This record gives sequence, structure tokens and C-alpha cells, in this order.
Amino acid sequence: MRIEPIATKNILVIHGPNLNLLGTREPEIYGNMTLDEINRTLLKIATDAGAKLASFQSNSETELISRIHQAIEDKTDFIIINPAAYTHSSIALRDALAAVKLPFIEVHLSNIFARESFRQKSYFSDLALGVISGLGNKGYELALEYVLKMR
Ligand code: DQA
Repeated sequence: MRIEPIATKNILVIHGPNLNLLGTREPEIYGNMTLDEINRTLLKIATDAGAKLASFQSNSETELISRIHQAIEDKTDFIIINPAAYTHSSIALRDALAAVKLPFIEVHLSNIFARESFRQKSYFSDLALGVISGLGNKGYELALEYVLKMR
């Protein structure tokens, strides 16, 4: 009998513009946790589960698109993305995710559907495997938990 090696999951977490300011940016909406704390928590959860996790933040649409393209070369299996304000504006970022054809979960710290009308439209949700919005930093952890349990 041939025993197949268990493939290590390769997860990429992408954070869009202004999320580098988490912790000090409108904490009443986005919470007190810094991006570094969020990333370190996710890395620990993934590492403990035997998976690989890389995090990337950029304020530039170009860099975010290039990082998504790079996901093919670095053999990413799954993307967890908070496109931040680009959620509501970026067809280019949406097209990048459609092009690489990798499954992704869209995460928002705040509940975008309970906010201004311009935030209630997402260019990503119909392509996403699922959307978590309004559960603060826990949303990332729940998305990761799902990815880790998925076959
Ligand atoms: C956000 C919601 C967006 O509307 C906003 O532009 C952000 C963060 C969230 O995580 O709640 O920057 O994606």
C-alpha cells in the first residue's frame, strides 16, 4: 500500500490599505489589536496545526495585485483577504483573485452591511468562498480555523 504524504497547507493572509494602522485607527470601529498582533496570532494557530502562513499588507493596489499573482509561484493553497477600502472600489483586485483561481475568504473587522451605503457593496463577495464581517479580529481566526479544517 502506498502511503501518500500529507501536504502542508500554504495560507496567505492579505490586508489592504490603512490596516497597518490597526490599534490606533478608529478603535471603536476596528478594535485595539495591532496588525502585528493579529498576524502573530494567526501564525501561531497555523504553525500549531502544521500549516504554513504568510501575511502581507499594503496600501498600494499595485502591490496587492502583484502579491496575489505571486501566490501561484509560491504555491499558496488558500487566501484570507481583507481588501479594506478596495472592497468597495477595486475591480482590478477582484480580477487578480479571479485570475489566480485560488479559494479565498473575505474578512472585515466591522460589519460593512451596518455602515455607510458605499461600504455595503463588495466587489469580492460573490467570488469568495465565504464572507465574515463584523466579528473584529476574531473573524480572521474563524476564517483560518475553517481553512485548516477544510480538506
Ligand atoms: C474594513 C471595512 C472597509 O469599509 C474599510 O474601508 C476598511 C476596513 C473592515 O475590516 O471592517 O478599511 O474592510
